[in-house]
Amino acid sequence: MRIPSFIYLERYRNEGTRTYSSQAAYTEAREQYRPNAAHSGFEMRLFEVPRDRMIVYTANPASALSAAYLGQHRVMFGIHPQVLELCPDDPYVRETLSMCAGRKHIAVQPSSSTRTLYVEDPHMPHAIKLHFPFKISRYGRRMRHEVLEQAINISQELEDGIGQLDHRFAFLREVIAVAHENLQPGTARGENWGYLVRELTPFPNISDDCRLIPGFALYGRDFFDPESSLLLYDLIGNCDPLEFILENIMLPIIRHWVDCFLHFGYLLEPHGQNVIFEVGAGNIISRIVHRDLNLGIDIHRRRDVGLPDHGSNRYNRMEHNAFHSITYDRFMGGHFFDRIATACLEKYPDLSREDFTRPCLKEFDRVFPEHRHYMPDTVWYFSQQRDRFNKPLYQDTGARPEWRP
Ligand SMILES: Nc1ncnc2c1ncn2[C@@H]1O[C@H](COP(=O)(O)OP(=O)(O)OP(=O)(O)O)[C@@H](O)[C@H]1O
Ligand SMILES: [Mg+2]
Repeated sequence: MRIPSFIYLERYRNEGTRTYSSQAAYTEAREQYRPNAAHSGFEMRLFEVPRDRMIVYTANPASALSAAYLGQHRVMFGIHPQVLELCPDDPYVRETLSMCAGRKHIAVQPSSSTRTLYVEDPHMPHAIKLHFPFKISRYGRRMRHEVLEQAINISQELEDGIGQLDHRFAFLREVIAVAHENLQPGTARGENWGYLVRELTPFPNISDDCRLIPGFALYGRDFFDPESSLLLYDLIGNCDPLEFILENIMLPIIRHWVDCFLHFGYLLEPHGQNVIFEVGAGNIISRIVHRDLNLGIDIHRRRDVGLPDHGSNRYNRMEHNAFHSITYDRFMGGHFFDRIATACLEKYPDLSREDFTRPCLKEFDRVFPEHRHYMPDTVWYFSQQRDRFNKPLYQDTGARPEWRP
């Protein structure tokens, strides 16, 4: 079996997957910037701006990345081309252009999330995640200052604490963030925005000889060849399908969700777009690579384990346990595991849904015996109502969880 390149899978093995909510397929990205469109990428501009006018965060970046983005006196600032085209009056676009001392054009390709772009760099594979205040699925995709700071904090803390996680846990480090200073200090929250640099080599770096497969590509259809077989079936090959899926996909992801919660108070969001499978020789899944570090943080759990509270950054701090259920029951269970189980039941009709859910809820109970203290009894999801920043509120669906007891 030949596994296509990671970028190909990101862009073109994602058809038919965005059905998990009524808004999942919605995008305001222009055709030429969408991942699933027949272009080979586009150019974007990096603006050279004075370092002392910007806010810079780092989490131990590889020296090649620091050299490319962070000078002693100047730093590079990335803006998505659609923002330059449609938001010329945004105060931070204007500010960037007014203090820009030079420009660099780089070739990029959109990732599955659209606003994260792969930089074509043969020496140091990396991506940049950009402010994109257009709606994709449920949200406008902003990259505000406090969101950037939080991602860098989490990347550093996960890197430092990696010994507490099991050997099949890996993640993509988010190592550099650059944001504008707040030009409107009177507003209810800082709207100053920026971008971040993400490494593409899974951390810890153990082997260069691995392939990466985004989670959704296991059950997504091919954009150019809709009849080709699902990667999930190819990977199962002659293995026992139930054992393969439980041991390589579902149970390790449950353990990672629980471990990140117990050790750090993080609410991992393991839906099909945030999980990547690292596949080694013989197409064996060696590790689960987690990406996207803008996580909810349970402040009670952090206090319970004596962790610092990341200073004044208030972003995504959860005082309530609703979001725990959204990430576990819906992002992981509903958006991801359900699709894998369904794909499997179509091919192996002797299996039942309970064959998947039963071992998962047992494992959750085993690794997280105190779960009732932290999780709600029912499943929560987004409501149609929004807060004053247009962020969806949460609501109790009343449904019983299926992927935990
Ligand atoms: N199969 C998929 N499942 C879930 N989300 C998907 C899928 N394909 C594309 N997406 C898109 O990926 C994004 C998922 O949101 P999320 O907050 O995880 O990512 P992000 O923060 O925008 O980017 P990144 O994952 O690069 O950090 C949404 O824009 C969603 O529309
Ligand atoms: Mg994501």
